[in-house]
Amino acid sequence: MALGHEIASLQAQAAQALDLEMAGALDAAASSYAKAASQLRYLLDVCVPRSQPDLAAVCANLLAAWTHRLRALEARGARRHPAQQEQQQQQQQPATADRVGDRPSDAPHEGGMDTAAGDGGGGSGGDSGPAAAEAQWVHLGERDAARPSLDGTASAASANTEDCGGGGPMLRFDYGAGAMYAAEPEQLPPLACWAGGACSGSPPEGASQGAAKLELLRQCQRAVSGSLDDVVGLESVKDELDEAVFMPLRHPQLFKGIRRPPRHFLLYGAPGTGKTLLVEKLAAEAGFTLLALSPSSILSKWSGDSEKALQLAFDAARAMAPAVLFLDEVDALGQARGSGAGGDDAASRRLLTELLLQMNGLGPDEGVYVFGATNRMADCDAALLRRFERRVEVPLPDRAARGEFLASMLARPEINSPLPPPDLERIVAATEGFSGSDMACLCRDAAMAPVRELFGRRDPAGGGCKRRRLGESGGAAGPGKAAGLAVRKLTAGDFEAALVKIRPAAVDAREGSAGAVPSPA
Ligand SMILES: Nc1ncnc2c1ncn2[C@@H]1O[C@H](COP(=O)(O)OP(=O)(O)O)[C@@H](O)[C@H]1O
Ligand SMILES: [Mg+2]
Repeated sequence: MALGHEIASLQAQAAQALDLEMAGALDAAASSYAKAASQLRYLLDVCVPRSQPDLAAVCANLLAAWTHRLRALEARGARRHPAQQEQQQQQQQPATADRVGDRPSDAPHEGGMDTAAGDGGGGSGGDSGPAAAEAQWVHLGERDAARPSLDGTASAASANTEDCGGGGPMLRFDYGAGAMYAAEPEQLPPLACWAGGACSGSPPEGASQGAAKLELLRQCQRAVSGSLDDVVGLESVKDELDEAVFMPLRHPQLFKGIRRPPRHFLLYGAPGTGKTLLVEKLAAEAGFTLLALSPSSILSKWSGDSEKALQLAFDAARAMAPAVLFLDEVDALGQARGSGAGGDDAASRRLLTELLLQMNGLGPDEGVYVFGATNRMADCDAALLRRFERRVEVPLPDRAARGEFLASMLARPEINSPLPPPDLERIVAATEGFSGSDMACLCRDAAMAPVRELFGRRDPAGGGCKRRRLGESGGAAGPGKAAGLAVRKLTAGDFEAALVKIRPAAVDAREGSAGAVPSPA
């Protein structure tokens, strides 16, 4: 979509927010403004090309207006983002004894997109009254045209001075002097690029490049919901994430100096153990924007331009902070140099170097967490491993966790089939070595057994599996009648039958690679 259309759709979203505000739905209105402002901030920060200063000015004014509305809604009691709200409260209150495992999970969860502007807007503060108009203008930094910075949009404009505030963030651009000023710099939105070119981004490019950035954002931005409580088991991993991410959000005053929380995490462990799920749920619970980069979004689509895509992703994460940049299958991006597995290739070396540079370049206060996930730690470059300050193993579920998986599945409303404890114990014992994903497959297959019966289908292994076409009626248990038929409860036998078919993926992979023919039972 062209940049203009993109901005128009954000304006429509802001118009809806206004409707919601008029209807008294303050929380929903604030969330809508926050989303629109977050997207617009990103557009302004990295997509609006240097050649379009007017467009930049329009965006800046819209952003100021929406941020102002957001502040006004908050003043009227609309909820801020839970994490930010807690942080603010903590800063105002004396430190209290911390409770282990006291995640803010009771707070309402919102999608990641809600948050960036919530924070950004929150930072922009900007009292719009006369006091702000009287504010002292503080010099923020030079807008040096020679230094690549994404704020070049305005610096290329004619020599004049422009106030951008309109009741929102009070900013003044002095294009002629190439300088920028703010009324309340400590309350400035987290547009690092605006504040004097601290951005590592590339020089502003043409509109097509802007569209490419937007496309990357579309590919990477993931809507998330829920909380870490949705992840079964993995208590030690959740505790570790709690200490490294949530506690510092709740008690920032305690996490300074040597206690500075880590920002770069590597989750490693067998496939299907829930690494991706953990990152998604963490981002949802903390209310962070989640930008997920898979090797395919970097390596194939952006073939020949992978470093650039990586750079853009980091820039986007900064612009949308607080954010999690998730590098899934990070081993593919950072293969050990000299490993022979593509690691000698000059292009992959360049990409790895870029990744290391980008990770180094992230400041502790930029609000960007980098999470990597891999099931091939041995393939990761040593320098890359060092960059991940916290490396956390995500193990296979233990007995208790497997029991939890089964219990939670059996308790689902569509299943509602509690099993006697001895049966459960037997199934749990038979699933040694299963990952979370294997457990999910097993449960799904077992849950299908009563449905197969309903349609007179039997397991192919048992012979006689008659397939009917859509619309074809057949026998007493035809599709038409099924709607009125009750599905029987699950039994331990259903799990035992499923266990014959479903085996741990790791075992299948091992046997497959060894050329063994899997045994039928
Ligand atoms: N601990 C867990 N709790 C709940 N579901 C899980 C867990 N581990 C795995 N799963 C299930 O398996 C699927 C795949 O997990 P995923 O996070 O993609 O694994 P990984 O990234 O480690 O390969 C998830 O979508 C989820 O359905
Ligand atoms: Mg994964």
